[in-house]
Amino acid sequence: MKSTRAYAHTNIALIKYWGKLPGHLNLPATGSLSLTLENFGTQTTLSFIEAAQDIFVLNNQEQTGEPLLRVQRFLDIVRALGKSDRRCLVDSRNDVPTSSGLASSASGFAALSLAANQHYALNLNPVDLSQLARVGSGSAARSIFGGFVYMHPGTPVDKTGGYAEALATDPALDIRLIVVQCANTCKEISSRAGMLHTSNTSPYYPTWLATHAKDLEEATRAAMQGDFKTLGELTEHSTLKMHACMLAAKPGFWYFEPLTIAVMNKVKALRNDGVNCYFTMDAGPHVKVLCKAQHAEDIAKSFKKIKGIVRIDIAKPGPGAKLQ
Ligand code: PMV
Repeated sequence: MKSTRAYAHTNIALIKYWGKLPGHLNLPATGSLSLTLENFGTQTTLSFIEAAQDIFVLNNQEQTGEPLLRVQRFLDIVRALGKSDRRCLVDSRNDVPTSSGLASSASGFAALSLAANQHYALNLNPVDLSQLARVGSGSAARSIFGGFVYMHPGTPVDKTGGYAEALATDPALDIRLIVVQCANTCKEISSRAGMLHTSNTSPYYPTWLATHAKDLEEATRAAMQGDFKTLGELTEHSTLKMHACMLAAKPGFWYFEPLTIAVMNKVKALRNDGVNCYFTMDAGPHVKVLCKAQHAEDIAKSFKKIKGIVRIDIAKPGPGAKLQ
């Protein structure tokens, strides 16, 4: 049986994307800047099957409902591009917790896109591959590439854009992202639902859109020039603005848990003691802390003292998605 396997690493946005353009293409309303991580990712194997429907197995469990539909809808797009009607068994393994704000959908749809590109002989170039991954999950477009990744916003008029590219940064940055898991639970509000609710009801959303491009431009410049302090400050600013938009929605909502705040406070205390580090949070309770490689072990040790933390990992920048 012909099968194709791919592995993609997760990525975490330093300058966030939150909000979509209208339409079915999953185009992001803002650009973003991310870091692909070495530690975590998704391995996906595609095999053709003689069946009426695709089958999706995640971590050895056959999926039904929305997770299955998302994969089937995605493969329908792949089949249209590849002029094929063949169904697939999609066998995926995540080494990050699923649906918890640790970017499992980013690595999941990036691995699926790369495997599907090969399996259905689509011959997509990196930009088109990134756009295909984006249709599955906005952040997946970034996991096609390694290291720092710059993602272009969608363009409202001609409905293009929404693709990522690798960013050449100053090697002197030498950074780590400490991933602090603050809960074991799945998130209650998907990022898709959260974005829609925010854009429909938050009075801060227009300001988020209006001020985003400047943050992205300055943070990108800082990463390219090795300016860690500016990059870190903008990283915190971007995540706090994104979460402020959600808090101001009607009704407001948040992904923070008490431990999320405890880690944020610790980061501020470390900074007051002269250790430069900066937090970022996504659609989940976990905190990711940007720091210099030489400080990572000590910072991680200080988080270990916070009672109730589930797990702490120090992640290096990681490579782009690869066929295996
Ligand atoms: O990839 P999505 O559509 O699940 O959205 C990801 C949204 C955030 O993780 C909160 C921000 C980002 O840019 O990754």
